[in-house]
Amino acid sequence: MRPAHKVEGMTDQPQHPEGDIPGKPTAASRTTLSHIMTGSDTNLLGTVHGGVIMKLVDDAAGAVAGRHSGGPAVTASMDEMVFLEPVRVGDLVHVKAQVNWTGRSSMEVGVRVLAERWNESTPATQVGSAYLVFAAVDADGKPRRVPPVVPETERDRRRYQEAQIRRTHRLARRRAIKELRDKRAAEGLDTEG
Ligand SMILES: CC(C)(COP(=O)(O)OP(=O)(O)OC[C@H]1O[C@@H](n2cnc3c(N)ncnc32)[C@H](O)[C@@H]1OP(=O)(O)O)[C@@H](O)C(=O)NCCC(=O)NCCS
Repeated sequence: MRPAHKVEGMTDQPQHPEGDIPGKPTAASRTTLSHIMTGSDTNLLGTVHGGVIMKLVDDAAGAVAGRHSGGPAVTASMDEMVFLEPVRVGDLVHVKAQVNWTGRSSMEVGVRVLAERWNESTPATQVGSAYLVFAAVDADGKPRRVPPVVPETERDRRRYQEAQIRRTHRLARRRAIKELRDKRAAEGLDTEG
């Protein structure tokens, strides 16, 4: 039988020379955090401050990363935070998060933000989304291994494959920028502090 955490058709799965950790299904850590927006959440325009939503996104993603990895996990990056529509006071906001992809010690968490009026039975609409990378850490704050996520539905498999593309691009972008900075430093440019 093939190992439980091998995902069919997916190429970039990390190999662990120290031995395998049993995989965990996406559904095991999927989480929704819900919150009613009040007057204290507003910006100067009277709608909800984007930073309030970003904190909820980080909170929900952190809960998912902690659940999946079975211990502490820290936010390494947040990217592609998109605000589609303003959120208003009196909106009931639902932040839905799940592990899309896992590496050796990192996890990409995908988050969707939905809002509905707190006292109306109209369907919730999507108002935002984001992707966050969390690193699982040990007691000394050093990265530790995480269980491979096991996507079980076609939607989860699509999200896994899309997360792999984002991972490849993140690494390539970081490498390219580092190379440029090293080159400029070697040429004596960018000397100001
Ligand atoms: C995130 C952190 C643990 C990474 O530590 P590090 O010494 O750079 O360790 P590594 O280079 O081995 O990175 C660990 C993993 O995180 C990933 N990672 C690190 N920085 C990343 C970034 N900026 N974006 C995406 N992934 C990142 C690495 O790719 C690696 O993934 P892998 O093990 O699955 O291959 C460390 O930078 C840290 O503690 N940052 C502060 C986190 C924090 O406090 N967040 C809250 C802010 S208030």
